Amino acid sequence: MALLFVSSTDDPEEFREALVAEIPDLDFRIWPDSGDPLDIDVALVWKPEVGLLRQFPNLKVIISLGAGVDHIFLDTERPPHVPVVRLIDRSLTTQMSEYAVLGILRHHRLLPVYEAAQRSCHWEKFGPPDTMRTPVGILGLGVIGTDTARKLKAFGFPVRGWTRTPRKVKGVECFHGPEGLIEMLGECRFLSCFLPMTRQTQGIIDARTLSALPKGAYILNLARGGHVVDDDLIAAIDRGHIAGAMLDVFNREPLDTSHPFWRHPKITVTPHIAGLTVASSVALQVADNIRRVRSGRSLINQVDPQREY
Ligand code: GLV
Repeated sequence: MALLFVSSTDDPEEFREALVAEIPDLDFRIWPDSGDPLDIDVALVWKPEVGLLRQFPNLKVIISLGAGVDHIFLDTERPPHVPVVRLIDRSLTTQMSEYAVLGILRHHRLLPVYEAAQRSCHWEKFGPPDTMRTPVGILGLGVIGTDTARKLKAFGFPVRGWTRTPRKVKGVECFHGPEGLIEMLGECRFLSCFLPMTRQTQGIIDARTLSALPKGAYILNLARGGHVVDDDLIAAIDRGHIAGAMLDVFNREPLDTSHPFWRHPKITVTPHIAGLTVASSVALQVADNIRRVRSGRSLINQVDPQREY
């Protein structure tokens, strides 16, 4: 029995060290040095290439190296009977909600305006912010969206949340379904996306939803690039309807140097760092799932392949 680590962006040695501390006799292999394919029963992966996972006939679980699993479902040749699990992790959640709060407060308190003024030694005050009358819309009320809602509430923002199917979160005005989405957007001064990437959520931030937001709304996307229709966002900003955007994820990563997002004065780009997986933080749950699958017990944080999250 062996674990296969597959990622071109995470450091395998950090994960080896953290997991061996939990399971001392763990046989930890790093793709492409997988050895005998029959040995592999656990795959710990980030963006595995299509067809990679079907090479291991004894594979019993596929564990995502992130909160999202869309990168696994993109592998259409993946063995369909093998369960997929995701990470639900304090560090990831905290990083993500912190990033969203940062982006919202930064725009809310006009920091880019004052930074520009400082560059020309220009002293000018703009009116006080009215936090109590600045509703924030959250797309996706999973663990991360809910943590963000809680933090924003603590600052005094009215928080609205949207989910595909009905969900109630204390202190959050909840909306659901396609009509609920348009209804919610009507008054959101900020819109922050935390949705899983599925066939249903692809392109959800498009010309139609952007137009449903009030003039001057600000967009944050921390989920997946595919949630945003890039040209629609740029058009909505350029016609003055949307004030700007802070984007951490993109349709193609790394973001191509010729992409207009890089140079747009009203768009802030970060390189998919809103939530980075910390090996020492997730090792416990990964090890738990390895033990569970090897002893035939049910898994934690297993995703539903029908829902794709
Ligand atoms: C990062 O994008 C993740 O899915 O955790």
